[in-house]
Amino acid sequence: MSERANGGNGAEPPPIIRIRGLKTRMGNRAIHRNLDLDVRRGEVLGVVGGSGTGKSVLLRVVVGLIPPHRGTIEVFGQDTAKLDSEGMRQIEARWGVLFQDGALFSSLTVAQNIQVPLKEHLKLPQSLMDEIAAMKIALVGLPPDTGAKFPAELSGGMRKRASLARALALDPELLFLDEPTAGLDPQSRIAVWDLVRELRAGGMTVLLTTHYIEEAERLCDRVAIIDHGRILICDTPAQLKRQAGAGVVMHLRVARAAPELAERLRALAGVSGVEPIEQGFRVFAADRDGLAPAAAAAAQDFGLEDIALAEPSLETVFIRLTGRELRE
Ligand SMILES: Nc1ncnc2c1ncn2[C@@H]1O[C@H](COP(=O)(O)OP(=O)(O)OP(=O)(O)O)[C@@H](O)[C@H]1O
Ligand SMILES: [Mg+2]
Repeated sequence: MSERANGGNGAEPPPIIRIRGLKTRMGNRAIHRNLDLDVRRGEVLGVVGGSGTGKSVLLRVVVGLIPPHRGTIEVFGQDTAKLDSEGMRQIEARWGVLFQDGALFSSLTVAQNIQVPLKEHLKLPQSLMDEIAAMKIALVGLPPDTGAKFPAELSGGMRKRASLARALALDPELLFLDEPTAGLDPQSRIAVWDLVRELRAGGMTVLLTTHYIEEAERLCDRVAIIDHGRILICDTPAQLKRQAGAGVVMHLRVARAAPELAERLRALAGVSGVEPIEQGFRVFAADRDGLAPAAAAAAQDFGLEDIALAEPSLETVFIRLTGRELRE
C-alpha cells in the first residue's frame, strides 16, 4: 500500500529485490495473492506476520526453491524466472540463506557444513576453507571446537548460529534470515542483532522474517506486515506508527461484555475502533487524554475489572491492521 517502488526523485538506486504481483499456491491453497515488495540495497527489511501467513514460503520463492504461480521476482536487477541454471548459480553465490529449521546436513560436521557453499561456488585449497569456517564460527559467537561437531551434538540455539555461519560463508551481499532468533535465549538474540547491525554497517542487505515485534522494531530499517497473502504496509517503524494512527490502545476487562458497552465506548471522544477480546474490548483511540476515566464511567454498569493502556508500538499497529496479536 505505502510501498514506494521509487522514492520519487529518480536518483534512488534500483531495489536489490523487486517482487511484483506474486501469486504462490501450495496444493490448491493460495499463499500469496498479488504480493508486492521491494528490498533496498543496504537495508534490513523485516517481514512480520502471524504463523502460516507465508513468510517462509516467500523466502523460498525468492531464492528459487518454490516456483511462483504468477508475478515477477527480480534480484540484483535480474528476473530470476529468465535465468538459466548458470545464471542462477551466479546469483546464488551472491546471497546467503538461513532457513527457519536451520537445515544443516546431519552427516557433516559444522565446519564441513559451512564449507558446502564454498565448495559449490569457489575452488579454494582445503586449508583456506578451514580458515574461513573457523572465522565464521567465531563471527557467530560459537566456541572454536564447534567446527568438529555434528549438528546433532549441538543445542537448538547453537545449530541456529551454525546455520547462520554457513549462510555467511561466501560473504554475501544479500542475506535471507528466516526467524533468525527463534529459540534463542535473550542474550544470544541480542548477539545476533548486533551481528546483523555489524553486517549492515559493512554494506550487506538483509531480508528477514520474524515473530518478534520487538526484533522488527529494534533491528529493521523497514518492516513489512504480511497478511492474507499480501504486504499490507511497508515502512520504517516510526512511519508505520504514524500512518496507522496507532495512537493508544486500551484493553478493558469487564464482567459482562455486552454489545451495548461496545456502542458506548465507540461513542467516546477520540475513539476510532472497538473490538471484542476475551472478557472485554480493545479500544483504539487517538490519544490517552481522558480516555481511561471516560471508559471507566461507561463500563460502570458492566462490572469493570481492569483497564490497561498500551503505548503506541509496532504491536498496536499490527493489531490495528490485522485484528490479531502477534504471538510467539
Ligand atoms: N512444502 C509445503 N507444502 C504444502 N504446504 C506448505 C508447504 N510449506 C508451507 N506450506 C503452507 O504454506 C502456508 C505458509 O507457510 P509458511 O511456512 O510460509 O508460514 P510462515 O508465515 O513462515 O509461518 P511461521 O511464522 O509459523 O513460520 C502454510 O499454510 C503452510 O501450511
Ligand atoms: Mg516461517
